[in-house]
Amino acid sequence: MSKKKIAVLTGAGVSAESGLGTFRDNDGLWAKYDPMEVASIDGYYRNRELVLGFYNMRRKELALAKPNSAHRDIAALEEGNIVTVITQNVDNLHERAGSTRVVHLHGELTKVRPETGVYDDTFSEKEVIDVRYEEVNLGDKAPNGSQLRPHIVFFGEAVPMIDRAIDVISECDVLLIVGTSLQVYPAAGLYRYARADTPVYVIDPKDIPIRGGNIHHIRATATEGMKEFIHIIDTL
Ligand code: APR
Repeated sequence: MSKKKIAVLTGAGVSAESGLGTFRDNDGLWAKYDPMEVASIDGYYRNRELVLGFYNMRRKELALAKPNSAHRDIAALEEGNIVTVITQNVDNLHERAGSTRVVHLHGELTKVRPETGVYDDTFSEKEVIDVRYEEVNLGDKAPNGSQLRPHIVFFGEAVPMIDRAIDVISECDVLLIVGTSLQVYPAAGLYRYARADTPVYVIDPKDIPIRGGNIHHIRATATEGMKEFIHIIDTL
């Protein structure tokens, strides 16, 4: 049987059962912090220490978190299929669960880079430093002498990997969406690039904002929904 090309678009909901907060649920991160203060480029230049501290806190949380069975089931889809995970998440749980092709649309929490770097669509790995779960503070400088900043796409910044994501979704045979409110563009519009005959499965315990002939809602958490999806994929 020929290998299926599966695109998996994930959001914070896939990591919720690993104990990492989502953004827009009632107890989400944006209920506690103002994203324009801690996750925007203007907020960063207004108060670097506040933003560096926010990402230091999230890096410490990630050190204690572990992939859940949804991450593992997504990684296991690679057996017999060509799978690309396109994640809005900045955590490393997909990689730690075994996914080998992960596109981070919004950057990576364990990485930092010089403030003065200019990035092409590959986010130029040469200047990016993986600090794992360590703190990065004001005065911590890159080799080029500029302040190290989170390797995160802040609100107000371009999403360099979006074209790669569009290519993956426009060529996929199946699109699986797990745990995203589909509120933040351009990621939220990616599903529209799937071909008209490509089935789209959306795993989310709440209502979803998209509908259409080829869109199927699996109303479940990521871990439950993935148990259902791994049976569905064999029938496609
Ligand atoms: N399993 C699956 N989905 C879940 C679970 C769960 N256990 N718990 C919550 N969800 C769903 C919610 O119903 C919601 O649809 O996950 C989604 C989380 O939505 P958001 O909190 O908006 O997170 P996300 O869509 O990833 O946000 C996108 O916004 O702030 C920016 O850069 C940030 O990448 C983030 C982007």
